[in-house]
Amino acid sequence: MPTKITKAIFPVGGLGTRFLPATKSMPKEMLPVVDKPLIQYAVEEAAEAGITEFIFVTGRGKTAIEDHFDHSTELEDTLIKRDKNDGLAAVRAMMHTPGSVAYIRQQEPAGLGHAIWCARHYVKDEPVAVLLADDLIKPEQGGKGCLKQMVAAWQDKGGNMVAAMEVPRENTSSYGIITPGASHANLTEVKGLVEKPSPDKAPSTLAVVGRYILEPGVFAELDQMERGTGDEIQITDSLARRIGEAPFFSYRFSGTRFDCGSKLGFLQANIAYALSRDDLGEDITTWLKGLAL
Ligand code: UTP
Repeated sequence: MPTKITKAIFPVGGLGTRFLPATKSMPKEMLPVVDKPLIQYAVEEAAEAGITEFIFVTGRGKTAIEDHFDHSTELEDTLIKRDKNDGLAAVRAMMHTPGSVAYIRQQEPAGLGHAIWCARHYVKDEPVAVLLADDLIKPEQGGKGCLKQMVAAWQDKGGNMVAAMEVPRENTSSYGIITPGASHANLTEVKGLVEKPSPDKAPSTLAVVGRYILEPGVFAELDQMERGTGDEIQITDSLARRIGEAPFFSYRFSGTRFDCGSKLGFLQANIAYALSRDDLGEDITTWLKGLAL
């Protein structure tokens, strides 16, 4: 089994119904936080963690994502002519080596597990990272991204790993919830995992957020195509079935997670990122203080 993780899957096939009407014809993953689409934050986080192959699982109406990661020759030519060097540098910096980005159509939004399974032929007998772009994780000032932290922890443990954080008990029905085992530093052994339990049935308040490292056995489980909560093929169900077969840990990351699939989380992310920007922080602070009066 390789100990280096070089591939990441970005499931972007969801419908984004919580963000209508904005997501009717525009992918939710293209919503910008300040001036960068959510999907670009996720791709940059993956690249920082050593990922060199990027696999997007898309759906109908998501072609804006493919265009975003390709050259726009007309735009680049115009930027050159107008001496807009910053803009040119920004659009060129995001280009990846030709052949390192793949797009797969999910065909139907049958759940996150189904989306990940659609990438199976691109991931053979090797571990793979999965990043959900709508879970935006802002690193601490000067700190490492969430996936980079997880990859470092995974080197010792192998198996499956999920990013995790504590959530209020009343919110457990929005998350995969962990039955925790022994904890050491940021790692907690996963003894059980259940998708979206009601607060009274949740085994804990330790919730999975959108970063995963999967070992190949998970794909064999996904092959069963079993439907779970919401009649969707859930990644949590396949992960739960691997308990006892492969090491399984959750990782409490440092950083702040924003649920950008929700309107409130998206607004909070925009404010948090703007506040930490050199070019905007002062002005947005002054404006926010004015509002609070
Ligand atoms: P969500 O649970 O946020 O679902 O998916 P959604 O459909 O995107 O959004 P809402 O709830 O209707 O507003 C979590 C992640 O899984 C991907 C989504 O794109 C998102 O990144 N996903 C979900 C798929 O790729 N395919 C699916 O069938 C479902």
